[in-house]
Amino acid sequence: MTNKKGMFIVFEGIDGSGKETQMFELAKYIRGRNKYQDVIITHEPWKSEEIKRKLEEDKDAYSDGLKMAELYVADRANHSAEIRSRINQGYFVICDRYKMSTCAYQWTQGVGLDSLLKLHDHYPIRRPDLTFFIDVSPETAQFRRTARSTETEKFEQLKFQRELADNYHSLINRADCSELFGKVITINGAADIKSISSVIKEKFNPFYDEWFSGKLG
Ligand code: ADP
Ligand code: TYD
Repeated sequence: MTNKKGMFIVFEGIDGSGKETQMFELAKYIRGRNKYQDVIITHEPWKSEEIKRKLEEDKDAYSDGLKMAELYVADRANHSAEIRSRINQGYFVICDRYKMSTCAYQWTQGVGLDSLLKLHDHYPIRRPDLTFFIDVSPETAQFRRTARSTETEKFEQLKFQRELADNYHSLINRADCSELFGKVITINGAADIKSISSVIKEKFNPFYDEWFSGKLG
């Protein structure tokens, strides 16, 4: 292997967009390209019991935005330290949700975007090398979620998910998007699982080649 450090890849999107499905596909692909490459799959929220409890206990999508933001960012600060250490050891880390989720969800909950960005500045949060945003309509994602489970979670009502999708698009269109979230690649998530996975691999390949040749990481 030519590099010592690994790569940090994040998947983002509204609930039910297909992130988890696609991150597993990408992990399999990376291991297929190089069987000696260790890949870790992780997710946020990470280890905060308080977040899990609040998501369970309070199903009003718009309540408690600032408190939720503080909890997600503190959980991320711990997670980020672990991610950084794994990347320094050469691992590829693929994470389901990260900083962009707080900016999109808690902004939709009513917290100012500037406050959300400032909250992150209190911690040394590792920026992703690459973020795949799976772009799917709130209606399609809702259909996929219903096939998965009939229970509606805190953020899953259609009204919230529509505002959330608009906010994700606003974040992606910001001039400083890569500075905030790393290189972001939007993937049309409306197709079938295999077609989306092929597009992700195709987009990922130049980054992997660059990393392999030692220019990234
Ligand atoms: P997320 O992690 O974004 O919430 P999942 O990967 O869990 O989404 O996908 C939500 C549901 O939709 C799962 O049941 C999954 O099998 C299904 N699914 C994922 N991608 C697609 C797709 N492209 N077409 C149809 N169903 C999909
Ligand atoms: P979880 O049950 O882990 O979700 P998933 O459906 O992704 O498996 O709950 C995570 C919820 O928290 C999900 O709806 C997105 C939301 N969330 C935020 O509101 N802000 C954040 O910063 C993160 C990471 C997640």
